[in-house]
Amino acid sequence: NLPTKVTIIEVGPRDGLQNEESFVDTEVKKKFILQLVGAGIKEMEVTSFVSPKWVPQMRDAAEIVQAVPAGVKSIVLAPNRRGVDRVMETSINAVAVFVGVSNTFNKKNINKPTKESMEELIPIISELKKRNYFVRACISTAFYCPYEGKVAEADTISLCREFAEAGVDELSVADTIGMAVPTEAFSLFSKIKKELPELMVAAHFHDTRKTALANIFAALQAGIDRFDTSAGGLGGCPFAPGATGNVATEDVVYMLQRMGIDTGINLDKLTEAIDLITPAVSRPITTGYYQLARKS
Ligand code: HMG
Ligand code: MG
Repeated sequence: NLPTKVTIIEVGPRDGLQNEESFVDTEVKKKFILQLVGAGIKEMEVTSFVSPKWVPQMRDAAEIVQAVPAGVKSIVLAPNRRGVDRVMETSINAVAVFVGVSNTFNKKNINKPTKESMEELIPIISELKKRNYFVRACISTAFYCPYEGKVAEADTISLCREFAEAGVDELSVADTIGMAVPTEAFSLFSKIKKELPELMVAAHFHDTRKTALANIFAALQAGIDRFDTSAGGLGGCPFAPGATGNVATEDVVYMLQRMGIDTGINLDKLTEAIDLITPAVSRPITTGYYQLARKS
């Protein structure tokens, strides 16, 4: 019972670049976003309104959002009141808050225990909903934590439920350090879909141990039809040691297209977007589809 259509939420400009030490020129970021839209991306995390002291790469968020074209759902991350206030000064209407199931990870990432983050975020979510924002909640360390190890399914599901009760529109459930395997992906996503059937649910896999495509296949079988992916497989959270890139958009699109699942994304144009960002990033692009495309 696989879906015939899947939505790709491109996270390259956000997750893909946030871990880059050298500042990527704002104009290059803007062009990257435009080329991704040209390749058929319809939903994208474009930047983060986080503290520039914590993540200097995202310090140009206010400039980036001015460049996003109409017709694409542009989502920005915001960790706190200050972030949401900054978003409200822009024309953006989709916000992603983010929290880790693991307390230690949450402290490293947003300097607060998970419970305190939720206490801060619940009234913010309700205000955002009153003002008609689309609200996404990114659930980090949904499977494993780099500090605490295995995370209990029940804890992840309980945090998902808290966000659902707070009124979010979508959950993005993340394997932050790419440790999950397909049996775990199938189990967790089946349970989340069963518990929260009304909610949009996306899967966010990092490909650290090369299990991400297999996890996507497992998540598809659990009823997930929304996936966060990053062009060129860039990405990683600066506060999750060892975390490498997100699963690559091109590899996911290739696999889904060959399975007869429509993504609306043009692989040639996507490859050109990766060409543009390659010189701006510190790591070579080693994803399967891209390397083969550029050899021929
Ligand atoms: P803090 O130091 O506790 O914050 O950091 P604070 O409230 O004490 O503020 C410190 C300074 O930052 C102040 O400035 C604030 O104004 C400023 P000062 O008075 O010193 O000049 N500040 C801000 N400036 C701009 N925008 C803001 C903001 N907030 C405070 N929003 C804080 C707490 C949450 C701010 C910090 O920890 C932070 O920014 N963390 C973000 C970390 C991050 O971006 N991580 C990556 C994204 S999450 C991720 O990648 C995971 C995901 O992909 C899913 C997965 O794979 O798991 C989504
Ligand atoms: Mg991530």
